[in-house]
Amino acid sequence: MVNSLQSLQISIERELLPHLKLESIEPYNPVVVHQVPYPWKCLGSGNYAAVLAHPDYSEQVVKVYAPGRPGIKEEAEVYRRLGHHPAFSECYANGENFLVLKRLRGVTLYDCVNQGIPIPPQVIHDIDAALEFARSRGLHPHDVHGRNVMMSEGRGLVVDISDFLNAAPCRAWEDVKRAYWWVYRPVLRSLQLRVPYALLDGVRAGYRLFRRFWPWQGI
Ligand SMILES: Nc1ncnc2c1ncn2[C@@H]1O[C@H](COP(=O)(O)OP(=O)(O)O)[C@@H](O)[C@H]1O
Ligand SMILES: [Mg+2]
Repeated sequence: MVNSLQSLQISIERELLPHLKLESIEPYNPVVVHQVPYPWKCLGSGNYAAVLAHPDYSEQVVKVYAPGRPGIKEEAEVYRRLGHHPAFSECYANGENFLVLKRLRGVTLYDCVNQGIPIPPQVIHDIDAALEFARSRGLHPHDVHGRNVMMSEGRGLVVDISDFLNAAPCRAWEDVKRAYWWVYRPVLRSLQLRVPYALLDGVRAGYRLFRRFWPWQGI
């Protein structure tokens, strides 16, 4: 593991970072990945970073922060406090603008809704328990939405903990759960509907606006 981590870090520094082109166009939309050097693959991107995998390192991913996006030290600190827990990733190493993380093999709930993959209630319960565990470690679950949680073999995972030092209240996960019980279960799931990304992104933008004007309003 130590050796393979060292060679992965060399590959990151020599092959990935010099050729990877990332851009954060707006801070509230995912980072745009313009170029990924072969044989790396982009697994996803969020508002801060892109996450990439190399085929020779099946257990790790590399989260590369886009130029100008803050928070990498805080994310490493959150992983330090979390230690080992089955619902979270782990941080194996870090550089100036990247973290080497344990690869989670799952599908984000956002992608599940798009692809019509059923999400059982167990996933929601697992994520609730994982967030409770994070609180017990002095952390503040923050920004827990559909792109930051995953389902893997019917169990829930939390893929993005980068904002968990932020003590400001955040209703995102409560709102996701409300949407799960009131919209997903009775409508989308029972009619087996798939929701196109354009519509999901529209809901995301509408939600952001709603929370800006009514931060405390229940949905
Ligand atoms: N440890 C991981 N294993 C596998 N995929 C991951 C992992 N971490 C992140 N991803 C993928 O990359 C996407 C962006 O990562 P995320 O941590 O949410 O970035 P950001 O902090 O910019 O929001 C996630 O939605 C997920 O698809
Ligand atoms: Mg994210």
